[in-house]
Amino acid sequence: MCFIIRFHGLKLIILEDVYIPSEDTFQILECVESYLKSTRYMVEYALDMGCGCGVLGLYIALKCRRIRLVDLVDIDPRAIQNAILNAFINGLRGKCRFYLSNLFEKIPMDVRYDLIVFNPPYLEPLGYLNHTVEGGPYLVKDFLEKAVYYMSDRGVIIVLIPKENLNFIRKELADVFKVEILRESQFFEEKLVCLKIYRVS
Ligand SMILES: C[S@@+](CC[C@H](N)C(=O)[O-])C[C@H]1O[C@@H](n2cnc3c(N)ncnc32)[C@H](O)[C@@H]1O
Repeated sequence: MCFIIRFHGLKLIILEDVYIPSEDTFQILECVESYLKSTRYMVEYALDMGCGCGVLGLYIALKCRRIRLVDLVDIDPRAIQNAILNAFINGLRGKCRFYLSNLFEKIPMDVRYDLIVFNPPYLEPLGYLNHTVEGGPYLVKDFLEKAVYYMSDRGVIIVLIPKENLNFIRKELADVFKVEILRESQFFEEKLVCLKIYRVS
């Protein structure tokens, strides 16, 4: 079974087994929207890590009038297929590239991104669920360690993590990044924090 959702000017089809945009998606989306507003929608190059159906990346492609490129990345082939479909439906295919990749493994270093967004899977790897829900702090740490090489000088990362992982992320990456909390929220049992992360200058 697949779903269709419409919001903020996007029409999205969600294929079976692809993550359905949920409360966590809308939390990070609000932070992305506020950040875009603060830049007057001047982002030119963006990357959506773990794009799922493409919701965050396509939203950025739609809203930023100066956008040159949005790269959408997922480890799941079904998600990439879904994101391509949604890019077509919304007339955004020409502004997007798609990568089937474990984090940055397959991402060329041909552009530097002004904005990188990631709504990662939260649960510690258990081995019997799947990558839409299994991730945890080490995935985020790995993501951030690599993301630094892909950021433009004014580049910003917006990522959503469980609050209980905040100190770990701060401590592990204190030499490289500054971390600002944009918003705290509750998702089922989990307290989440949406972070804005940028290079220590
Ligand atoms: C919580 S879903 C978020 C989907 C969508 N961005 C949203 O906000 O609704 C996490 C996504 O990350 C992808 N993912 C998990 N591990 C990944 C990895 N190592 N590299 C790239 N994508 C990954 C999953 O396949 C899934 O689509």
